[in-house]
Amino acid sequence: MNPILTTAWKAARKAGQMMHRASSNLNNIKIDNKAANDFVSDVDREAERIIVSTIQEVYPQHAILSEEAGHLGNIHAEYQWIIDPLDGTTNYLHGHKQYAISMALLHKGTLAEALVYAPEHNDLYVASRGQGALLNDKRIRVSGRIDLLRSLIATGFPVVDQSMMNTYLAILKDVLAKTAGARREGSAALDLCNVACGRVDGFFEFNLKPWDVAGGALIVQEAGGIVTDMQGEQAWLDSGDIVAANPKILAQLLQIFAPHLAV
Ligand code: IPD
Ligand code: CA
Ligand code: CA
Repeated sequence: MNPILTTAWKAARKAGQMMHRASSNLNNIKIDNKAANDFVSDVDREAERIIVSTIQEVYPQHAILSEEAGHLGNIHAEYQWIIDPLDGTTNYLHGHKQYAISMALLHKGTLAEALVYAPEHNDLYVASRGQGALLNDKRIRVSGRIDLLRSLIATGFPVVDQSMMNTYLAILKDVLAKTAGARREGSAALDLCNVACGRVDGFFEFNLKPWDVAGGALIVQEAGGIVTDMQGEQAWLDSGDIVAANPKILAQLLQIFAPHLAV
């Protein structure tokens, strides 16, 4: 791992240990509602404090965008981190193991480094632009499946902003009819990593935030996958509407979406 990823890993490992310890006493965790179905806990905030302070100690000149703290440092800095200290808060607070820390580093606006760590599985996914993607030090690739009917697709339900609910449900109905099935695991970062290592053949979700997707998206790209918005364009980091898959499955998913999104 290069020095940047080594620092990110130090931060994620410390935060992961804290999260794992705290998960043995879920009743003691203080939970606030940011909006309906949108929760933040002491654990999210403490994980963020650990990660941000570790990064700032080594890279004081880097800017940070982190879910709970917002923008920190100079927004015109050459390097900017995008951090989700706990992706899968709802899972975490119910004792589900599917949650992760997601970190990405932009260099002059381009995704350069990514790390996603799932503490309960001890799975560490990393990618550096142009260098491929690794899971626990082993090279990963997206699936080679080309037949949509046999493909498994991950997704996220629109639980916070429900304005797209009807469109989403119509798309999901079509996806269920034309694939081998769909999974909703509750962590967008891990959904993307599952695409990257071929456990699912594709993923789509509407209305995500940059911290949900920045890390996982680079990991998918470096594993040979493609990331677009629902129209097949590159606006996914801004719009939060994202589809990620191996190239053949991505093209077929976009064909499913098109009639539902036509204005
Ligand atoms: C959530 C997870 C979930 C997705 C939600 C996100 P959080 O992130 O990624 O899978 O469906 O839209 O908000 O709130 O647990 O960090
Ligand atoms: Ca998230
Ligand atoms: Ca979060």
